[in-house]
Amino acid sequence: MSRPKISLIGGGQIGGNLALLAAQKELGDVVIFDIPKAEGMVKGKALDLMQLRPHDGYDADITGTSDWNDVKDSDVFIITAGIPRKPGMDREDLLGINLSIMKDVASNIKEQAPNSFVIVISNPLDAMVYAFYKVSGFSKNKVVGMAGALDSGRFRAFIAMETGLSVQDVTCMVLGGHGDTMVPITRLATVGGVPVTSLISAERLAEIEKRTRFAGGEIVKLFGNGSAFYAPAQSAIEMAESYLRDKKRVIPCASLCEGEFGIDGYFIGVPTVIGSDGVEKILEFELTDHEKTELNNTLEVVKKTVKETGL
Ligand code: APR
Repeated sequence: MSRPKISLIGGGQIGGNLALLAAQKELGDVVIFDIPKAEGMVKGKALDLMQLRPHDGYDADITGTSDWNDVKDSDVFIITAGIPRKPGMDREDLLGINLSIMKDVASNIKEQAPNSFVIVISNPLDAMVYAFYKVSGFSKNKVVGMAGALDSGRFRAFIAMETGLSVQDVTCMVLGGHGDTMVPITRLATVGGVPVTSLISAERLAEIEKRTRFAGGEIVKLFGNGSAFYAPAQSAIEMAESYLRDKKRVIPCASLCEGEFGIDGYFIGVPTVIGSDGVEKILEFELTDHEKTELNNTLEVVKKTVKETGL
């Protein structure tokens, strides 16, 4: 039995970390694809990772390429192709350039691996995953965006930092678009099953929610050039692993809603079951009036960006 083939489209900051994590988890063989100008860079990263294997003992093959033929018949694609934010930029400011890249990527993936499972990371996420879906014509269970996993992870990290309790025991979810209007569902956040609302004051929780919403921007500002890459890579790897190992994990993902939460025809962050059929189910639950209003606000932002794609 051959190993699954995982192709990473874009071998920059996130792409390089995706390759490392995919190999270390032995998810399969990894192909790092980038534009011809960056071919040496991805070939170099692949070789470096091949030479890390003796220390870790993983048997995956890692290769770098700028030839689309090399990603043929991949089982999974993770797309980070595009440019990241600079300080002062919203994710929406990336739309023009990243949209043309996504159109090119989608048609090539459609040609090389029409049955693959595709995870989109490029920003503005909700519009990029929509663009991939429209251009590729893939079925909705085979296309998903990575955002909620990261946003929820950030929320979890901040709650653990605030309480001094293990991050492992913090559960919470963030729904909606991958932007400043995202919706942390604080009411359902717990530490080891104990509601955070009984551990942290309402005032501090409001601050933590705000920090979560702007967590990506906080890092962009610190870097001065480029955006976060460790946590985004790990978040997408969790999604890929759930697909490849049929784990049926419940992860907030940008999935295509067709009536769920009253949303129709848009990819937006909702609790999603990922298994061997890809996006297997969206888990709906009753929202409070306040959460409904917030979800509507974030939906309006997503709709506006999607409209700008012209797709
Ligand atoms: N095909 C393949 N790769 C491409 C293409 C293309 N058409 N166009 C650009 N790339 C590559 C770049 O050459 C670069 O190596 O995508 C890579 C992006 O890497 P980085 O600039 O390091 O950006 P990164 O931090 O990895 O973020 C990538 O994810 O989170 C989002 O906002 C972020 O949109 C950005 C994306």
